[in-house]
Amino acid sequence: MRTSASFESVEIQLGERSYPILIGSGLLDDATSFTAAPAATQALIVTNTTVAPLYAERLRAMLADRYATVNLLALPDGEAHKDWPTLNLIFDALLGHGSDRKTVLFALGGGVVGDMTGFAAASYMRGVPFVQVPTTLLAQVDSSVGGKTAINHPLGKNMIGAFYQPQLVLCDLATLATLPRRELSAGLAEVIKYGPIHDMDFFDWIEANVDALMACDPDAMAVAVRRSCEIKAEVVGADERETGLRAILNFGHTFGHAIESGLGYGQWLHGEAVGCGMVMAAELSRRLGGVDAAFVERLQALIRRAGLPVKAPALGAERYLELMRIDKKSEAGQIRFVVIDRPGSAAVRSAPEAMVREVIAQCSG
Ligand code: NAD
Ligand code: GLY
Repeated sequence: MRTSASFESVEIQLGERSYPILIGSGLLDDATSFTAAPAATQALIVTNTTVAPLYAERLRAMLADRYATVNLLALPDGEAHKDWPTLNLIFDALLGHGSDRKTVLFALGGGVVGDMTGFAAASYMRGVPFVQVPTTLLAQVDSSVGGKTAINHPLGKNMIGAFYQPQLVLCDLATLATLPRRELSAGLAEVIKYGPIHDMDFFDWIEANVDALMACDPDAMAVAVRRSCEIKAEVVGADERETGLRAILNFGHTFGHAIESGLGYGQWLHGEAVGCGMVMAAELSRRLGGVDAAFVERLQALIRRAGLPVKAPALGAERYLELMRIDKKSEAGQIRFVVIDRPGSAAVRSAPEAMVREVIAQCSG
């Protein structure tokens, strides 16, 4: 169907690497959404075995009008496959199809597909263009935007990657209709994140609309995705390579990444780990004097209402500390946390180890 879907556009302002994020329902079936897609002779759609049967043929049909050849690669699904052997499947496909530099990659799926496709685009022939077509809430509000690409290492999450911006992001809200409830909740963790770090009015709005978001109400989703992308665009536009400000987007991630890698990738979803990690980071913020107990309780209540766990797994303080030292924000072995210094504002701080141990003891078990 070639209907004309209406969409909103948020611009990532990065000079010559600027690009639009289009947000709307039905973009996948609307040729005008693809107007800004890069010119090329070949396209490779990278997706996974779950998303391919749902959306790949529709995307392929759209791209067939623009590119002489459109190939498709379905990777195995899951965080456990965000690794070297799976990344190599993308290079195998590109080389197998004789893809030259006039090739564009389309990442169709969630954050795992997006992060791996972006990394492949960054390194294939030293860089070919790519487009993000995120189909999870988490990917639409966070991972498809801003150019962080990576794979995991058994010793640490997202440890190998590159900053490499897509040329277009297409958030078709209609794809969220097929998302399992657990994945929807995981995406809400990254939506909630934007409140404490940047915009408490948005936090108020999420509190008032969390039930509609849990029900995947299209109007509520449109607001949540647009406001999340606006905030992310503002932060990335100011600090693309995370020399400072961008680190606030990692609120809850220091504890969260430890949960993910400590339990084994894929046991807890990324968003689940981040949700719980935000409760821990908020408690640390309280102990450092940035917020009061009422704020921590309010955040925890919203995370719980979003269907996310608020009690961290009992890995033991030693294991948490060991895993958190591998975090990319660590400096000379010193763990650094994103903390809330007042509601709506975040900063990166270190904290006394004894205090961190107390937070782990209080929040896990
Ligand atoms: P995911 O990519 O694993 O997708 C979640 C699940 O939903 C998968 O099983 C997937 O196949 C399925 N799925 C995707 N779209 C669907 C749809 N429309 N209908 C039905 N099922 C669908 O997980 P995610 O939560 O999207 O992304 C998490 C990843 O993103 C993590 O690896 C995390 O590190 C990364 N991430 C990256 C950034 C960044 O800035 N690059 C930011 C946040 C998270
Ligand atoms: N998700 C964190 C970032 O993009 O910086």
